Amino acid sequence: MSNPSEAELIHMFKGILFTTRSSPELLKSLDTFDAREDDVLLVSYPKSGTHWLAGVITKLYNAQVTLTSPIEFGDISKLEELNKLSSKRIIPTHLDYNMLPPNFKNKKCKMIYISRNPKDTAVSMYHYYRDNPNLPTVDTWTAFFDLFLKGDVVCGSWFDHFLSWEEHENDKNILFLFYEDMKKDLPKIVKEISLFLGLNVSDNDIQDICKKSSFSEMKSDTEKENSDPSHTVCALTSNRKLIFRKGAVGDWKNHFTPKQNRRFEEIFNEKMKLSK
Ligand code: A3P
Repeated sequence: MSNPSEAELIHMFKGILFTTRSSPELLKSLDTFDAREDDVLLVSYPKSGTHWLAGVITKLYNAQVTLTSPIEFGDISKLEELNKLSSKRIIPTHLDYNMLPPNFKNKKCKMIYISRNPKDTAVSMYHYYRDNPNLPTVDTWTAFFDLFLKGDVVCGSWFDHFLSWEEHENDKNILFLFYEDMKKDLPKIVKEISLFLGLNVSDNDIQDICKKSSFSEMKSDTEKENSDPSHTVCALTSNRKLIFRKGAVGDWKNHFTPKQNRRFEEIFNEKMKLSK
């Protein structure tokens, strides 16, 4: 069987590339989505540590919550499916702030935005493109590097995504987290998340959650299928086995040439001029 064409895998909606696993009908109808005040949104640009954070949050709640697939993943029946859930919903999304269903904003739902050094995000996404049959083929790192800087990748430009959310960093209902901070001191961040969510969690439980959320534990849970391998919080695949690759900070140094690094820094400085 021949490889699927690019048009079969991706499409453009409001200037942003999506995989065809997010149907245009669903994307068009997102604005009508009925949020609930106790929904928690888990927001990220792909490859920023979404599964890690989702693992922590579900362990913090312990039970009685449903971690859904991303709101933009699926066809038009998705909204009805989410409506039918009676439990508290933890809803992941890769949407930028402007595309988020307005009801989440009006109801001031709690949202957690996780971000990661865009150089490491680019490298992680490159490997994901290579391993994930739902994404177009990329032949070389150099070719992918150009696509990433131009924002010609699924979910669009990292810079636009980050800036659209950063504008709201002082909103009381939004918590900003960094992958690198989770690597440095996970218990501190887990405590911060629990306070934000209004959960009372003992220090012992926090230690236990951190142990169970390590890269090696999460990877081996997935391999042993202790976690449903067809349930992901990424709109680009439903194969959990593609997620746990290296889990390191600074892998970009193994991929970027000095020239690519200079170019990245130039574009970063230009695009992020208005960022704090
Ligand atoms: P790498 O490809 O650099 O290894 P997402 O969940 O948003 O798709 O992000 C996936 C990235 O997060 C992958 O990065 C993955 O290895 C990393 N990751 C997943 N779980 C992790 C954990 N428990 N600790 C550290 N990194 C983790």
